[in-house]
Amino acid sequence: MPDQTRSILRGRILSFHRRPDGPGDAGSHRYLEDGIVVVKGGRVTAVEDAGALQGFQGPGVSVEDHGDKLILPGFIDTHIHLPQTQVIASYGAQLMEWLQKYTFPSELRYADRAFAEAGARFFIDELLRNGTTTAVVYGSVHREAIEAFFEESERRGTLMHAGKTMMDRNAPEGLLDTAESGYRDTTAVIKAWHRRGRQRVVVTPRFAITSTPAQLEASGALKRENPDCLLQTHMSENLKEIETARALYPERAGYLDIYDYYGLLGPKTLLGHCIHLREDEIARMHATGSVAVFCPTSNLFIGSGLFDHDGLERGPAPVRIALATDVGGGTSYSMLQSAAEAYKIMQLRGQKLSALQAFDQMTRANAEAIGEATEIGRIEPGLAADLIVLDAHATPAMAHRMEAVRGDLEEELFVLMTMGDDRAVAATYVAGRRV
Ligand code: GUN
Ligand code: ZN
Repeated sequence: MPDQTRSILRGRILSFHRRPDGPGDAGSHRYLEDGIVVVKGGRVTAVEDAGALQGFQGPGVSVEDHGDKLILPGFIDTHIHLPQTQVIASYGAQLMEWLQKYTFPSELRYADRAFAEAGARFFIDELLRNGTTTAVVYGSVHREAIEAFFEESERRGTLMHAGKTMMDRNAPEGLLDTAESGYRDTTAVIKAWHRRGRQRVVVTPRFAITSTPAQLEASGALKRENPDCLLQTHMSENLKEIETARALYPERAGYLDIYDYYGLLGPKTLLGHCIHLREDEIARMHATGSVAVFCPTSNLFIGSGLFDHDGLERGPAPVRIALATDVGGGTSYSMLQSAAEAYKIMQLRGQKLSALQAFDQMTRANAEAIGEATEIGRIEPGLAADLIVLDAHATPAMAHRMEAVRGDLEEELFVLMTMGDDRAVAATYVAGRRV
């Protein structure tokens, strides 16, 4: 049960309410130089200048003063793999080889329930240490492993979206389900866990290469029967992947058309990567409201390519974008590091990611992308008190760099995203409780 006593966090408060147009867009956010967040029952009940503090104090009310540190909404990671915590930093392969050589062998270990439980504990610990309070998670193919994850998340009180990955071909025997069993297990997990407290189930066909037409058909049925659930899959990450997917579905007009044909696109659909899209695919992403998930550290590490952020966001058919780590293709659990690498990829394409836009993306915009805008992603009365405290002076190098920053919020945010990682996360609150 959420704590019913009132508690107060004091510090510098930052929360976005719309997409920043670019640097200096002060209308995109609310910033309190010395503010308080009042929390009760796991939710924010007020956000005020610290001058109002006295009015909220009383017997049993705790005040945690974070001084000149920044209080923000918890980060949201929109694409991460639970069974890949020991795949990170696997040498020398691009996607298709990387899956076979490192990823599938590691995911096989999640057949063991005790291993899966320990993995879930480590995974959530690591997310929270990095200031990520909500994630959209790919499990392994094993139903018990994703149930262990939901049990652990429920114990922590975290809002998580997660799915049992479905694969019925082109993977080792121990990682395969069938179109029928994938459908049945996913349905059972949805019945047991979808919207049980803060847990949400995601329909998760891994990608076209590891699903037969029958399994994508079943995924379409799952989506239709459970319109409140997100659906996640991978799309146009790597050129060889695209070639293989097209060869497996020769009757389809292109990679995206495979998912389109089986009814998998829409505003609740998250498509990981979307690096090598054709114009007609961008138009179709736009028309269906599907979300392209940008996974910068992964795209660089597996050598997949440079995501065309502005081409998607500002083109004639704008596509919704989310940001994610994609651990273990991704190399860091930190959304700050993901923003740093996003900035560098955009530099290579002659595009700019402002600090305001990056912080909006990691919080409000990612919440919007996963359909949770009225629950998380902002610090507003009524929303969940999933909060983090960031310290731009966390390391000697950051503190030294900050000596040259004189009260400029955007510059501070840019230092945080460029140099920061888990060390810059001074505190994490889940539903008002410090963890
Ligand atoms: N495509 C299919 N599966 C995966 C995965 O686990 N990671 C990445 N990065 N791409 C994928
Ligand atoms: Zn992925």
